[in-house]
Amino acid sequence: MEIERRVLVTGGCGFIGANFVRLLLEEHPTWRVINLDKLTYAGNLQNLTGIEEGECYRFVKEDICDAPAMDELFAAERIDSVVHFAAESHVDRSITGPAAFIQTNIVGTFSLLEAARKSWLGESWHGNDPRFLHVSTDEVYGSLGETGMFTETTPFDPRSPYSASKASSDHLVNAYFHTYGLPILITNCSNNYGPYQFPEKLIPLVFHNAMTGKALPIYGDGKYVRDWLYVKDHCEAIVEVLTKGNIGQSYNIGGNNEKQNLEVVTLICDTLDKKLGLPESGEPRRSLIRFVKDRLGHDRRYAIDASFIKEQLGWEPKVTFEVGVEKTVDWYLANQDWVASVIDGSYREYYKKMYN
Ligand code: NAD
Ligand code: DAU
Repeated sequence: MEIERRVLVTGGCGFIGANFVRLLLEEHPTWRVINLDKLTYAGNLQNLTGIEEGECYRFVKEDICDAPAMDELFAAERIDSVVHFAAESHVDRSITGPAAFIQTNIVGTFSLLEAARKSWLGESWHGNDPRFLHVSTDEVYGSLGETGMFTETTPFDPRSPYSASKASSDHLVNAYFHTYGLPILITNCSNNYGPYQFPEKLIPLVFHNAMTGKALPIYGDGKYVRDWLYVKDHCEAIVEVLTKGNIGQSYNIGGNNEKQNLEVVTLICDTLDKKLGLPESGEPRRSLIRFVKDRLGHDRRYAIDASFIKEQLGWEPKVTFEVGVEKTVDWYLANQDWVASVIDGSYREYYKKMYN
């Protein structure tokens, strides 16, 4: 078979990366996908069970900060496309331990940019037109008041160590376009939810706690607003940007779906009550909600104006929040072994079983 594209996916064992690898292997059978992941606490090879290594897929356990290893991989695999997910992604962890965020999100992105520059901008490059797609977040734009939306020209105003590290990486990626002409694209997306999300993030955390009768912690007054997007919609948008986007352009991706945290949590509880009946206590699961100390520097509201990507590339979200939550709850209910292995840490053994 002739391989038409050789895509390096970084962070493909994480939540969005794993959904993206699955989508590529299903919908682009002539692409070779090289999934490079360090397997931090957030990387889980079980997110890719059922996928075999071969002509279309290879897994590489590596750190994006290892510059010589990145150079070697670009040369050995003749990478022509990069979709860069690998990052430290949890805001709360960035508050208690920012160092890993600076290292992976900034230094790691730099070493990938350098590897791409050396490989693609030298005279010896004879491959396809290359593309480096950097997956970023709406959090780079800061926090909104009750009105307004983030557009592609909203000035950056990151406010947590996580969002500051992502904004730094966006700036570096843009600098490589303006200075060296590296063919880059950037996506800035809102909150994702769906299968394989690590249960430190709001939706899977609430699912797990509601199933096990634990308190559901709501930071502050619970009126913080996020714009929720089903993960498959995000992955499809990334493919559109990768294949049809204008080099040098940033694209905002969002769900047109603003919700207060309290609404999200009660919807998950009520969906579980509807599907499973009330728990033994006889109390609806929403009675487990507890208001707890707020996150430091908590951004009040995010809202993406996704009209540019719709106009330019014809992409818009397909999955409504109600349908997306239903699908997500069904997935977690059908995959309680996955949740249990993440909670008890046994998912960390899977790599040893597979590769030793
Ligand atoms: P995640 O934390 O679930 O996964 C991150 C993956 O990156 C893990 O598999 C981890 O092992 C890997 N990784 C971390 N450090 C690495 C390193 N140094 N070298 C190689 N691999 C490393 O993250 P996610 O939620 O899937 O987010 C993926 C990307 O999308 C991130 O860049 C994040 O900023 C961005 N994003 C996430 C959301 C969201 O709602 N989750 C929204 C917008 C943008
Ligand atoms: O906006 C995109 C971002 O969305 C991504 O860039 C990040 O990688 C991703 O983690 C996510 O960040 P958030 O901080 O918005 O997601 P999180 O699930 O941690 O929190 C969602 C909201 O819920 C936020 O307002 C904080 C609140 N929250 C979260 C947790 C974990 C609670 O009230 N209680 C909780 O226990």
